[in-house]
This record gives sequence, C-alpha cells and structure tokens, in this order.
Amino acid sequence: MSDRLERIRLHGAVPQHIAIIMDGNGRWATGRALPRPHGHLAGMQAVREVVAGCLDAGVEVLTLFAFSTENWQRPASEISALMSLLEEYVAKETAELAERGVKVRVVGELGRLGESSRQAVDDVSQRTGSGSNLLLNLCISYSSRGEIARAARQMAEEVVAGTLTPAEVTEEALGKRLYTADLPDPDLLIRTSGEMRISNFLLWQLAYAELYVTPVLWPDFTREHLYDAILEFQRRDRRFGRVTA
Ligand code: IPE
Ligand code: IPE
Ligand code: MG
Repeated sequence: MSDRLERIRLHGAVPQHIAIIMDGNGRWATGRALPRPHGHLAGMQAVREVVAGCLDAGVEVLTLFAFSTENWQRPASEISALMSLLEEYVAKETAELAERGVKVRVVGELGRLGESSRQAVDDVSQRTGSGSNLLLNLCISYSSRGEIARAARQMAEEVVAGTLTPAEVTEEALGKRLYTADLPDPDLLIRTSGEMRISNFLLWQLAYAELYVTPVLWPDFTREHLYDAILEFQRRDRRFGRVTA
C-alpha cells in the first residue's frame, strides 16, 4: 500500500466528498510546444488516477469540474476536442467503472451538448447506475450561478402554482433543488495549476469546504498528489464558526 495511504488511514477521517477544479491542461501542452487539446488528452490519465485513489481511500463522492458554461467561449476546435474526449472516456472507461462500483452522474446544462455527447452521457449514467462504492459527479457545461438561479426559478414556479409558500423558501429548500440535492457538501476542494479562484464552481455547496490549491498542472496530478491533499485536510481544524474546545 502507498505510504501516504497508510498515513491517511492512521489519521482517521477521510473527506466524504472531494471536489476538484481540474485546471492547467492548456499550460501543460503549451509548455511542451503541443496544441492545447493534447493537454486535455493527457488530463484523462489524471482522472483515472483520482478515481482509483478515491476508491482506495474510501472517499464516497468525487465531483470533477470538466467543462464550465464559460468554456463555451473557447475556440470551436478546442470545444470539439474536449467533447470528443468525453465520448472517448465513456467508450473506454465505462466497463471498468461499472466493475469497480463507480456510479457516474453528469450534471450541468446538458441540453447544450451535441447529440453524440448527450448519448455518451446517457450511456455512462445508465451502465454505471448500480455502483455503490463511489459516486463520480461530472460537471459538464456547468455554472454554479446558473444552478442556483435554476433552483430559485423552480421555487418561484412552485409558489405561483401554490405548492410552496414563501416562508418555505429556506436554505434547505434551495439546497434540495440543486444538482447535488442528495449529497453531502464537499469537505475538500482541490484546484490544480495554482489559480486562487473558484471560477463559478459549487458556490453554494463550498460554504465550509477546506480549500487546497496546488501548483501541479492537472495532467501531472497523480493519486499521490491526491493523498497529499487528503493528508493536509486531516491537519486542518474545521470550526464551522464555533470555537474549538
Ligand atoms: C482545464 O485546463 C480544462 C478545462 C477548463 C476544460 P485549461 O484548458 O483551463 O488549461 P489552462 O488553464 O489554459 O492551462
Ligand atoms: C475552470 O477552469 C473550469 C474547469 C476546470 C472545467 P478555467 O480554466 O475555465 O477557469 P479560469 O478561466 O481560469 O477562471
Ligand atoms: Mg484553465
């Protein structure tokens, strides 16, 4: 067993839910004088690494930011390379994900995806539906503000329909209308490539997450890097606004 994993087990509590902003693919490629899509391709290996790492460490939920609604503003060639990679990932990995008990769920404005990408999303969700070892949440065409606005709109419609009263518009009610309704909030947010920002990711759900930013570029991120982040998480003192005894 990995030395780090052994230390994680000795320390005890593992984050139940880890969220990752997978960033730095473009810089990884540019640094090697390669076109940016090569960085995205190399980043697929890191996805395999963190999925395996979470399974071994006993993390229950892994949420990956794969494509933001703002990313639709990138050049068409890069977007189509990313969508092809999504389809390739599904084609290549679904059988193993299902075998390892990984349940995949894809969230975001999926109506904006092309037909073949949507097909891939349906396919992986269906074929891994019975997994119970790890829930892998893929955020694709995702915007946190969009998600919150959507929840607010739903509640407004329910109020108009008379099935919800204004007094019932609570934090809990809003949380129940997010894509993450049935999940615990992330305990740990990891961002690779050194950027110190949230970039419209899980703004509501990250209220009390521990933040961990590493300079490592996403394609270079391995399960040992994941374990370093978990070890750092285990050293944090989470107070949730209270005082420690
Ligand atoms: C993250 O890498 C992948 C996506 C946002 C889709 P980037 O493509 O943002 O890489 P950098 O930040 O330009 O290096
Ligand atoms: C955030 O990365 C989105 C994903 C990782 C999918 P970006 O590279 O798009 O974020 P900014 O532009 O640096 O804020
Ligand atoms: Mg980036």
